[in-house]
Amino acid sequence: MRILLIGSGGREHSLAWKIAQSPLLEQLWVAPGNPGTALHGTNVDFDVSNSAAVVAFAKEHEVSLTVIGPEVPLVAGLADDLRDAGILVFGPSKAAAELEGSKAYCKEVMSRHRIPTGGHRLFRNVSAAISYLESDLRYPVVVKASGLAAGKGVVIAESPEVAKEAVRNMIERKAFGDAGDVVLVEEFINGYETSAFCLTDGKTFIPLETCQDHKALLDGGKGPNTGGMGVISPNAKISDRMHEAIEREVMLPTLHGMNHEGRRFQGVLFAGLMMTAVGPKVLEYNVRFGDPECQVLMMRFQSDLVPYLEACANGTLEELEAPIWDSRAACSVVLASEGYPAAYKTAIPISGIDAIEQDETLQVFHAGTALDRKGQLITTGGRVLAVTALGETMGEARDRAYAACDAIEFEGKTLRRDIGRAAADSFHHAK
Ligand code: GLY
Repeated sequence: MRILLIGSGGREHSLAWKIAQSPLLEQLWVAPGNPGTALHGTNVDFDVSNSAAVVAFAKEHEVSLTVIGPEVPLVAGLADDLRDAGILVFGPSKAAAELEGSKAYCKEVMSRHRIPTGGHRLFRNVSAAISYLESDLRYPVVVKASGLAAGKGVVIAESPEVAKEAVRNMIERKAFGDAGDVVLVEEFINGYETSAFCLTDGKTFIPLETCQDHKALLDGGKGPNTGGMGVISPNAKISDRMHEAIEREVMLPTLHGMNHEGRRFQGVLFAGLMMTAVGPKVLEYNVRFGDPECQVLMMRFQSDLVPYLEACANGTLEELEAPIWDSRAACSVVLASEGYPAAYKTAIPISGIDAIEQDETLQVFHAGTALDRKGQLITTGGRVLAVTALGETMGEARDRAYAACDAIEFEGKTLRRDIGRAAADSFHHAK
């Protein structure tokens, strides 16, 4: 197959790494890609927000499948433009991607199709939101920008002052641009978080292994929310019974609901969940692989990924067997720039990666990196790299990931030290 992969993050590096192992692959292009994806395919530097350019490239190079990694082009409708041009696509339509593009729409879907989630109110107006926040509410509450904010538009507010400041930041100061024109104030749900994924062609779905993201910047879940500072898989707290509840109470009704809404979902559906005493509750949906969740999933996915991507795109998923998973534990630790998720410096030289022995059990996936004119690897983003390692135990996976993290150097390198620590203490073997 001739595959075009869209994106440039750690997610896309891990997808490129996995796709490149497929015996079905003839050629892989990654647009725009990063220095990591260039190890597994050909990076092509064009503006992926220009869908006419993507379609023209795909036609000219006889691309047989396009895989869209990030949410922004999905929400903008790139999948529709490619499908209209007769090109097979892994990724949902613009209408289906609204599940992530608008948290207001996502709440409507959950309400119409009885999918468990927290109570919420929507606001466009600061003074209405402030009156509500000053009413007899139980704190903390969660304040969310309705639109896309790269995982940063969520504030858990312990007090009315913090909540009001978050609302002003989103609506008045436009901290997230138009994404904050509508703000949700949500009930804070107690429980523990898990990320659930399924591959789907809109008729059949295949659940993927469980993961646990670590969204806060600092150890112990402190500090601001980020796109994710590290992930473990499996999430050993999720029993088989809970896994079934997630499928029955969340995944199935969501996919049926989307069909009912005339917005068939094809691609990967990612539900961010809080597991509570009364079962799973949806915090949010994403319409793509999580990052860094994708990195642990790709390292544990032992089957050939390409037939699954193709079957989601062409509606033949029911013909495939469930994939085989590596029973080992996986731990992924993100190395970020100092200052992330706020402002950070770029163009800082990175060293130490070449000395790390990489194989199918340990990979350094690139996210915000580039090569400068002299060929030196430098930082270009907030999340710079992530090290993902497998181990017989979560403790071993974690030790291996952190040893590699310590071998990589760049000024201001910022990482959490507790990814997988609690799981390592309580969990000895993946299965
Ligand atoms: N790691 C969370 C996300 O990708 O949205």
